[in-house]
Amino acid sequence: MLIRTPPDWELPESAATPEQHYHARRDFLKTLGLAGAAFAAHDLLSTDVLAATAGFPTKVNPAYRDPALKPSSYEAITNYNNFYEFGTSKEDPVVLANRGWKTEPWTVELAGLCRAPQKLDVSDLVAKMDGIEQRVYRFRCVEAWSMIIPWDGFPLAKLIALADPLPDAKFLKMTTFLDPKVSPGQRQGNLDYPYVEGLRLDEANHELSFIATGIYGKPIPNQNGAPLRLVVPWKYGFKYVKSIVKFEFTAKQPLNTWQAMQSREYGFYANVNPTVDHPRWSQASERVIGGGGLGSRQRTLMFNGYEKQVAGLYKGLDLRKNY
Ligand code: MTE
Repeated sequence: MLIRTPPDWELPESAATPEQHYHARRDFLKTLGLAGAAFAAHDLLSTDVLAATAGFPTKVNPAYRDPALKPSSYEAITNYNNFYEFGTSKEDPVVLANRGWKTEPWTVELAGLCRAPQKLDVSDLVAKMDGIEQRVYRFRCVEAWSMIIPWDGFPLAKLIALADPLPDAKFLKMTTFLDPKVSPGQRQGNLDYPYVEGLRLDEANHELSFIATGIYGKPIPNQNGAPLRLVVPWKYGFKYVKSIVKFEFTAKQPLNTWQAMQSREYGFYANVNPTVDHPRWSQASERVIGGGGLGSRQRTLMFNGYEKQVAGLYKGLDLRKNY
């Protein structure tokens, strides 16, 4: 984002070969006895296959399974990552986040302006959410690349209801773990840590806002933000704070990490908007990772295709100023 800006969203070998992803996935399906000649890997959604084998209880929410959205390969989603706590390249996190970093047990704190502040283990939190569901969402990074991701988890609104915010609470601030012993990025100070993100409370309560605990019907891998991370599909990827330890209700708008780093380039709202360019590159189109054609490019949609659902949140707000 700030530290490394490839001129034209160059792809590492690992991400630029959807053909390989396709074959790897087919081989995997074959081992499950499922890959008949008629099966295209992308036509199979995780829960049909993986949940049964991984024992990860999840049910598809049909309201969020648009057949037009073909999920990116599992390999691409879990090998092309931004997680600065574990390095600044797309390939670092898969290695460095899996070298002894423990994401179990994991305590989550609900704090600030709420009637039911509490600390609880993530497994107890999930147990209070009435099961997890799968939703297939578009994902758009501010760096102008995109994927389609089947997330497993629960609506953020359910967690908010558990905390029971007070009337003065207007924002939700979310914070990633801080432990330089296990995080090379935190030891180096490649960003200001801990990583912080925030939403207006009405955004956080929106039906699309989601907490992911899994991908493709399997527990979320460390490099993708285990054991729980935010998913807000109409916003740029840097809002999707990973490995959250604290949800705090505040009266004032929190200062998010990337805005603190470079406020001219990264704002608080970070709504996907093809008409407002990043100062250093266009946001009109995006490179598709791990899907369709080799590094194909497509037009970026307003609010990443969720305009109908979320435009009402921003009536009267100047989206040019509030980027
Ligand atoms: N959360 C933390 N704690 N640290 C990070 O560096 N990177 C963000 C976001 N959440 C980041 C983070 C950015 S820039 C993006 S694009 C997404 O995570 C990437 O998510 P992914 O690696 O699962 O694709």
